[in-house]
Amino acid sequence: MRRLSLAERAAGKSVGFVPTMGALHEGHVSLMRRARAENDFVAVSIFVNPTQFGPGEDLERYPRDLERDLDLSAGAGVDAVFAPSAEEMYPKDFSSAVEPGAVAGPLEGASRPGHFRGVATVVAKLFNIVLPDRAYFGQKDAQQLAVIRNLVRGLNFGVQVVACPIVREPDGLAMSSRNAYLNPGERQAALCLARALKTAADLVADGERQATKVAAAMAEEIVEEPLAELDYAAVVDPDSFEDIEKITRPALALLAVRFGRTRLIDNLLLEPAGRSRAGRK
Ligand code: PAF
Repeated sequence: MRRLSLAERAAGKSVGFVPTMGALHEGHVSLMRRARAENDFVAVSIFVNPTQFGPGEDLERYPRDLERDLDLSAGAGVDAVFAPSAEEMYPKDFSSAVEPGAVAGPLEGASRPGHFRGVATVVAKLFNIVLPDRAYFGQKDAQQLAVIRNLVRGLNFGVQVVACPIVREPDGLAMSSRNAYLNPGERQAALCLARALKTAADLVADGERQATKVAAAMAEEIVEEPLAELDYAAVVDPDSFEDIEKITRPALALLAVRFGRTRLIDNLLLEPAGRSRAGRK
């Protein structure tokens, strides 16, 4: 992979990179298309990274379909797919790790201890292997995006991080590889995430500025759904992920909710001055 990238770069070509864990969907395809439009050479990685899964999480059952992923990647005009084995990425003597910093502390970091350490470490490794000019990430994983921006800044990776909007199903459910786990009842129930985020946006549009009130209204919406179990509903600063008191500038509304064994996340940028939209540019 690195030889390929070095050759492209030596020929004056730009390299765009889309890191994924496979089980590709339209959200991933939107990242690939954007990378295709903005770079001469496009690489995708497919690697279900064991170090970002905690004990009891879904590492074993995480959906895997390499043939389908290769077809989708080819259809999106990708030039190279890097799909290493766990042994290649983490040989027996592997012992390094990247500390993801304060932004990794709350919310996903608190619910999934060690998750962002695993993400930051594998993304650092992938950047060093693929040597991209630009890397494309979805805004659905908003805190991951903040962790990666912090990593790129802190460790001086010469990579431009490009954030891409959340892609939703027609009924509003954010696309996720984990949606495949949902049974029909849970799939219907999962619409409460989009509903709760809309409630938050409507409240802010109507003048509500207390972050705790907006978060409580989201939580209420989730609690009303019998198949849903709330992990967190929060309104935070979109860069630091610290709690805020008043929504006087754009703030990020975030949710994590379980449906049986499936845990889904979603978010929406709340803009006090105008229309709220999913994620941030
Ligand atoms: O967002 C993902 O799919 C993963 O967390 C990533 C960035 C590919 C790292 O394993």
